[in-house]
Amino acid sequence: MAAAVSTRISSLTEGRGLVFGCDYNPEQWDRSVWPEDVRLMQEAGIGLVAINIFGWSSINPAKGVWDFAALDEIIGLLHEGGIRVNLGTGTASPAPWLTARHPEILPVGEDGTVFHPGGRQAYCPSSPVFRAYAAELVTRVADRYGDHPAVALWHVSNELGCHNALCYCDASAEAFRGWLRARYADIDALNRAWGTTFWSQRYGAFDEVRPPAQALSLRNPGQVLDFQRFSSDEQLALYRAEAEILRARSDRPVTTNFMVTAHIRNLDYWTWASDMDLIANDHYLDRRLDDARGELSFAADLTRGLAGGAPWLLMETSTGAVNWQPYNLAKAPGELRRNVVAHIARGADGICFFQWRASTQGAEKYHSALLPHAGEDSAQWRESVELGGILDRLGELAGTEVVADAALLFSWESWWAAEGEGRPSEGLEYLQQVHAAHAALADAGITADVVRPGGALDRYRLLIVPALHLISDADAAAIARAVENGATAVITFFSGIVDEEDRVRTGGYPGAFRELLGIRSEEFAPLLPGQTVALTDGTTASTWSERLTTTGAEIVASYVDGPAAGGPAITRRRHGGGEAWYLASQPSRDDYRRLIADIAASADVAPQPGAGRDVEIVRRAGESGSYLFIINHGVSDIEITATGRDLVTGAPTTGTVPAGAVRIIKEDA
Ligand code: GLA
Repeated sequence: MAAAVSTRISSLTEGRGLVFGCDYNPEQWDRSVWPEDVRLMQEAGIGLVAINIFGWSSINPAKGVWDFAALDEIIGLLHEGGIRVNLGTGTASPAPWLTARHPEILPVGEDGTVFHPGGRQAYCPSSPVFRAYAAELVTRVADRYGDHPAVALWHVSNELGCHNALCYCDASAEAFRGWLRARYADIDALNRAWGTTFWSQRYGAFDEVRPPAQALSLRNPGQVLDFQRFSSDEQLALYRAEAEILRARSDRPVTTNFMVTAHIRNLDYWTWASDMDLIANDHYLDRRLDDARGELSFAADLTRGLAGGAPWLLMETSTGAVNWQPYNLAKAPGELRRNVVAHIARGADGICFFQWRASTQGAEKYHSALLPHAGEDSAQWRESVELGGILDRLGELAGTEVVADAALLFSWESWWAAEGEGRPSEGLEYLQQVHAAHAALADAGITADVVRPGGALDRYRLLIVPALHLISDADAAAIARAVENGATAVITFFSGIVDEEDRVRTGGYPGAFRELLGIRSEEFAPLLPGQTVALTDGTTASTWSERLTTTGAEIVASYVDGPAAGGPAITRRRHGGGEAWYLASQPSRDDYRRLIADIAASADVAPQPGAGRDVEIVRRAGESGSYLFIINHGVSDIEITATGRDLVTGAPTTGTVPAGAVRIIKEDA
């Protein structure tokens, strides 16, 4: 799979159960508060504290001026308190003196807007000037603290590419050209890859190429796709430069916090994962989505995929509201616990919060924290302490892995290609399709790993391939081979259309899967928002239809009405020892669940008994035993059949999971 994960998460705070941690910004507080912070951290059971994330202007207040006194002191206090440190390199946001002295490092948007300092991450990722200053900072920090016994982990920068992933300045343009030279070697290869004869876009030399900034019309999709790839690589290069400095000076593991979440799409973490000593993710409930909780489950499964199935660390989440959504909702009673347990169920061996103490100033003063503005005498603080106790009691399951017979294929590259300008329908949003497929699996009680195209597929009986628009011939062949060897694949519309150069495969859609599926589609016929079509199996579908014929597949359902009326909408074909299904439209949520449940049953993939839309049930297993996680998101109590010991109470399980409650059961052997 993806990663070379070499560090056990639980080793970061050995002897403390699962990792319980937080971001801590002591520079925002008077020194007199620090001892109280450490005392309260001990009370809550905090074992790992991220500091110096935004420390640049504190430790390097002017060019050539270094002041580590406060950082020395706080690391010392935490160490004395038995709390380990997740040490930020401090490069996340340049100090004002740097941008004042070198305004050329400021990032530029696609319309030429210069993004000014005053927020955070105001630097161009390709800027050699920024990189030189960042390297000096990291070197100083690593030299000073590389061997400090409190340091458990290096935290490179912070959420690399969160705000500045795409920069269109001259330094970025120069770096983009360098990246293109390395990829294509000669300009004609680039011309072929981008199809530049179209609209007179043919380049005579690499020097003529620029990033795909705002244009009068639709932009060249090949150029846009390569710019996305380049931009992800530039952020990874920032990570690698820091990691190299750290590794030369310290034997502690190195990582950075990923943003596997619905609103960030510019980083292809499949290409990053093997550079991390452990996989860490930041995740906040996104209340802008219809199904925020479903998105959490998907993100956790994808994070586990990045870790190659190994346990991972939730580096940031919130106890309550965030402050960056239009409506920052408080968590409902029990919701924090359900969220945390869902992450653990899906492979997290540690949970850290942003942040320790709620700020009184700055842009995040209305963001929740472990210790709220109200102080210790608050329900939130009591919940924080209680959570520490629960994580402590779950310690024995550290290192176990999630059990899954199904896989969902996911690709950032394909996301970029599928949502390019000039696509058949704006209603076709890649992530929505992925979430819908993941929800269908979850609703049917099936746990899925999320894997990259080209990843190992042999252990899965069921493969779900939603809207995988861009896929290489080799990766498509791997899916066909898995089917030949007995797996069942469900491939949904808009998959397999283009190759890695975003070039459409001709002869009928979906080119990469036409033979495997035994179908041939001649024309897309997307649907309008709100429009539905009826299918002959009694279900309804939306978003998409297409005009296809079968060339060996069996028709499971046809369109009753809509632009492709009379034609096939769901097909199935036996191939080798397995089956390949095609969904040419988007089933409603219930219909999707029923369909996936039926297909899974025929593929011999057993659902978790009792699992469903409101009841999340996932199993982790390993040397220490088998653990069943039950999260009742619903409003009614449920009964489950598992027998074993409740890991939180230590008592034998009663079988009842009240509305809103969670159970983690060590199953009887
Ligand atoms: C991100 C950042 C943190 C903080 C939180 C707020 O995860 O890494 O610094 O801004 O968001 O939710």
